[in-house]
Formats: sequence, C-alpha cells, structure tokens
Amino acid sequence: MKQRERVTRAGPVIRCDPASLPDIAATWITGAIDVVTRLQGRCTIALAGGATPRPIYERMATAPLAGRVAWDRVAVYFGDERRVPPDHPDSNYRMAYESLLRHVAIPIASVHRIEGERADPDAAARDYERLLPASLDVLLLGMGADGHTASLFPHSPALAEGTRRVLPVDRPAPSPGRITISPRVIELAHTILVVVAGAEKAAAVARALEGPYAPDALPVQLALRGTWLIDEDAARDLRGIVP
Ligand code: 6PG
Repeated sequence: MKQRERVTRAGPVIRCDPASLPDIAATWITGAIDVVTRLQGRCTIALAGGATPRPIYERMATAPLAGRVAWDRVAVYFGDERRVPPDHPDSNYRMAYESLLRHVAIPIASVHRIEGERADPDAAARDYERLLPASLDVLLLGMGADGHTASLFPHSPALAEGTRRVLPVDRPAPSPGRITISPRVIELAHTILVVVAGAEKAAAVARALEGPYAPDALPVQLALRGTWLIDEDAARDLRGIVP
C-alpha cells in the first residue's frame, strides 16, 4: 500500500505577544467549535494538558466566549493523561475541569477522560481507544521543550505505532507514566491547533518549523499541517525560512 504522503510543510504560523496568547487561542478554539457544530451539529475536541492551556480554558469558560459555544453539542476528549487519579494535581483532566469543564453547560456524559488511575494502563488505553471517534474534529496540542507533543516523546517506541490509537507510555521516575494518543490520531484529526509559549521552547520551535522533517526526534512535527500559535518568546529563534 502506498505510504500516505506525510505533510511536512507547516500550516499557518501565528505569532503574538505573550499576554495575548490565551485570548487569541481561546477565540480560535471557540470559533472552530462553533463552525463545526453549525456545520455538522456536533463537535468532537481533544484538549491538551500541561500548564499552557489553563489560561486559555479559563477564557473559554467566561463571557463572551463561553456563550459562543453550544456546549450541549460538544464531546470532549483528551490528547493524553498522566497515570494519576483525576483529582491529582498533575491530572490533565483536573486542570481542564477546574479551568473550563465545571464552568460550562457540557453534559458530564460528553466529557471522556482517560482513566489514568487504573492499575492496568494498557487496558485503560484500549478502553479509551474504543471511546475515541475515528477522527477528531479539533485537536489541541502543546509542545515540550524537547519537542514532544501529547505524550509522544522523542525516540519513543509509541512513534512507530501504526495501528493502535491510544497507548501507555512509561516515563523515568519520579515522573508518572502517561497514556497518549498515537501518531495516527494526529494524522487523522481534521483541525489541529498547536499552542506554544515561553523562551524555553524557542529552540524546539525553530527546529520543528524550520529544520528537517524528523518526527522521531521532534514528535510535534507530526502536527506541522496544523495552525501554530506561538508567543514571541517561543518564536525568538525563528529565522523566517520555510523548509
Ligand atoms: C502534558 C501535555 C504535554 C504538554 C507539553 C507542554 O500532559 O503535559 O500533553 O504534551 O502539552 O509538555 O506543557 P506546558 O504547557 O506545561 O509547557
């Protein structure tokens, strides 16, 4: 079977000052959800974890943006989760619940968290895969300073997974293990937004957007076709060349 052509050129790259990033991202995301729900009646979205999304989700939960989304038509998923209980400080679900989900009228049955607390992460991953739609309407992703995205870390065996869509990932102690979407989920998502903030990400941003296509070393390059929203601190090493 012909290998699917991987898109290696970057999608639109939006640079903004750090203070504006949460508002711009929240406006972009709620706009994407609104368009999809108007066009197809429902919208599936996978949220990103980590620290960057919190102020974005907080803005999505407040007027005027919260009123722009028919939350009863939205189904929420997660791109990854730490292997901790949902009330743990490291839980991506807890962060999204506190900053967004508890504040909007989304039916609880429409929020699908990854059960990171389960003793068998592989079973939890397989169960989550059965919940995940064949392709997400909107996928939000962040990026670590090492170029990881979701919990797809550089040189991870998970990057070679061609069939499964959700996988357990081990992490060096004391970090908790993870459960993550696989490259296929990124490949099949309809709309992707990658949000990156902070000077510590600048080198990886420049490598991802202006360097050679090497997703095993820079997993975030799997999302190059998406829209990238980068604050000026994270954009400072960009030289303006498109590979
Ligand atoms: C996670 C995220 C991860 C995150 C990056 C950036 O579970 O941590 O899914 O991929 O997006 O590590 O994290 P920060 O936003 O905290 O810099």
